[in-house]
Amino acid sequence: MRIYKIAVIEGDGIGREVVPEGMRVLEAAARRFDLALSWRQFDWSCETYLKTGRMMPADGLEQLRAFDAIYLGAVGYPGVPDHISLWGLLIPIRRAFQQYVNLRPIRLLHGIRTLLSGRKPGEIDFCIVRENTEGEYSEVGGRLHKNTDLEMAIQETIFTRRGCDRIMTYAFELASTRKHHVTSATKSNGIVFTMPFWDERFKAISRNYPNVKTDQFHIDILSAHFVSHPDWFDVVVGSNLFGDILSDLGAAVVGSMGLAPSGNLNPGRDYPSMFEPVHGSAPDIAGKGIANPVAQIWSGAMMLEHLGEKQAAQAVEQAIFRVLAASDIRTPDIGGHASTKNLGEAIAAEVSEMTARI
Ligand code: NAI
Ligand code: MG
Repeated sequence: MRIYKIAVIEGDGIGREVVPEGMRVLEAAARRFDLALSWRQFDWSCETYLKTGRMMPADGLEQLRAFDAIYLGAVGYPGVPDHISLWGLLIPIRRAFQQYVNLRPIRLLHGIRTLLSGRKPGEIDFCIVRENTEGEYSEVGGRLHKNTDLEMAIQETIFTRRGCDRIMTYAFELASTRKHHVTSATKSNGIVFTMPFWDERFKAISRNYPNVKTDQFHIDILSAHFVSHPDWFDVVVGSNLFGDILSDLGAAVVGSMGLAPSGNLNPGRDYPSMFEPVHGSAPDIAGKGIANPVAQIWSGAMMLEHLGEKQAAQAVEQAIFRVLAASDIRTPDIGGHASTKNLGEAIAAEVSEMTARI
């Protein structure tokens, strides 16, 4: 039997509600496909920070290193500044483990009403490939003249040739398995050093893929095209900040933040990759048991896929799609009255009941 060691970090807010549903569905898939998931929970969160002064212990990264994958909910909660929770846990994991690809599928599913009138499933099906280790989210910078009227803050954006080339190469490779089209998110009209460099690297890497069509748009009009022409896209590659913004917009375009999964991938497999929904800890609905668990469950399917368990991954995806298409068990964000647990249980039951191998 294949056994996978999975580190689980539920984190904060709805992370604690949706992760158990993800585990429920993945356990159902494991039973059906004869594999074993060996889970270990880490209680790293804002609550831990308030007790210990750290989001994770000093040797946290070493503890995670031994796992096959990391399954994360969300971090961040009122009472702890967001830059502390993010930089104390999520960003160090992404960087230390060279999870330089943040892969975020955006797909309109049957049974989901999009705010974009007239759009049907099949018309919106693309992937955002976000650079996940450098760019605008850098630790280079600082403050001067604190608490005086001369106060200033500088934050440097870091684009390296290696960083650009590897994320773009990933995007082109992915497009080669899909609809052979990569769109680059840029802003080289306004940002005059880093973004023209990004464009140059995009052009250089695209030469290695003569069969892949390319486009590039400045981020402002690209955002508009996500709404007006979501059918234009196959793979969209963007820097850390642009990819972050575009993924929430993408989630909204396909109906809810609760439907957007993601993988933080270390493609070389030198380190564990991490799977988490695009959304955050949603303090506004936390504790009510109404968060949509689909993004978390779907991130679990991406984890199975990354672990090489393709059939199990497809079974989980299909179970999600079937339940959303055919049942009225849905959470309030997608127009229903079901709880997080009801929807998780329905998807798990669907996985267990699927008879034909997919
Ligand atoms: P958010 O994604 O947590 O919430 C945005 C809106 O979407 C809220 O109205 C929320 O109720 C709704 N929403 C999100 N997930 C949902 C789900 N599964 N089902 C139904 N509705 C859902 O973003 P926000 O409010 O900007 O951030 C809240 C906290 O989360 C902050 O502390 C932030 O730093 C943190 N955060 C953490 C992330 C992570 O751990 N990867 C990512 C984004 C934010
Ligand atoms: Mg985000």
